[in-house]
Amino acid sequence: MTKSSRPLDPESKPDDRVDNALRPEKLNDLIGQDQVKENLSILIAAARKRGEALDHVLFYGPPGLGKTTLAHVLANEMEVNVKVTAGPVIERAGDLAAILTNLRAGDVLFIDEVHRLGRAVEEVLYPAMEDFALDIVIGKGPSARSIRLKLPRFTIVGATTRLALVTAPLRARFGAVYRLDYYDLPAMQAIVTRAASMLKVQAETEGVTEMARRARGTPRVALRLLRRVRDFAQVRADGVITKNVAREALDLLQVDPLGLDDVDRRVLKTIIEKYNGGPVGLNTIAASISEEQDTIMDVVEPYLLQLGFLDRTPQGRVATKSAYEHLGYTYIEQGQARLL
Ligand SMILES: Nc1ncnc2c1ncn2[C@@H]1O[C@H](COP(=O)(O)OP(=O)(O)O)[C@@H](O)[C@H]1O
Ligand SMILES: [Mg+2]
Repeated sequence: MTKSSRPLDPESKPDDRVDNALRPEKLNDLIGQDQVKENLSILIAAARKRGEALDHVLFYGPPGLGKTTLAHVLANEMEVNVKVTAGPVIERAGDLAAILTNLRAGDVLFIDEVHRLGRAVEEVLYPAMEDFALDIVIGKGPSARSIRLKLPRFTIVGATTRLALVTAPLRARFGAVYRLDYYDLPAMQAIVTRAASMLKVQAETEGVTEMARRARGTPRVALRLLRRVRDFAQVRADGVITKNVAREALDLLQVDPLGLDDVDRRVLKTIIEKYNGGPVGLNTIAASISEEQDTIMDVVEPYLLQLGFLDRTPQGRVATKSAYEHLGYTYIEQGQARLL
């Protein structure tokens, strides 16, 4: 697993227990992602009506948007057990076979980071997903033979931040594929409000809005900001998160009004200052700011692209005019720059 020093890295683990306690359990507790929710409710209702296991489902999108949550919600709605694993954890085909043979009919097997499954493991997964069968080779050499073991019907829920790295044959075996997008402001406000009330934190509407706005459309970031702002409110104020308390706390955390943090700004500043606005390759950017390429690709880039601060060109990444303006640089058109 790749780790970074990033304070708001949605994949870092310190407050996981609180996150889990705040995890919505049923489809109706989930805020936002209306289209995904509607599709899932149909998928669930249809499977229940037929008394069958749910079709295999794949969720993709940036970290912290609810992929793991949705896997658990699906299992809760179907009233089945969920087993949790991850691509890099299943090292050998035998590991997967052991997991699969322990599943009961209808169970959900959640495979996080499904793009990191090894080749040999994937090959066991194909017939398992398609025919609910496990092909086992007994013996070695010329006397080796293969027997087919029937498995109960189960559901694989896969999650990935990199759909492009999921092999085509694996992708084809998921009956439903959903993309999770950044949440809009009203959804973020609702998520912060819900979490504040569950954590028994007093937050005024304007304080909530301030946190919601700076959480880069990501529930996990919102929950993290809420905890840090709560600390600030308790130590520096009377415990109540007002607009000003939220602002001061978030400024201190170096999260700007658009939700950019130190790493986001360093990425943009590097492109602008060192590479004249780009184009510059991702690996060059990562090396010049000593950050993991994966963090930049999974966490930084999708949000900057969404804000329109970054362009991806075949030659590399380019900082846009809006990025220059947001960071207080003067933007000079490429053509004009040559004339100066
Ligand atoms: N739609 C949502 N409504 C409310 N809270 C959410 C929602 N989606 C995610 N969360 C919260 O955000 C946290 C991160 O979500 P998670 O499912 O772990 O993201 P991912 O698996 O995509 O990285 C969870 O702990 C959960 O409490
Ligand atoms: Mg997850």
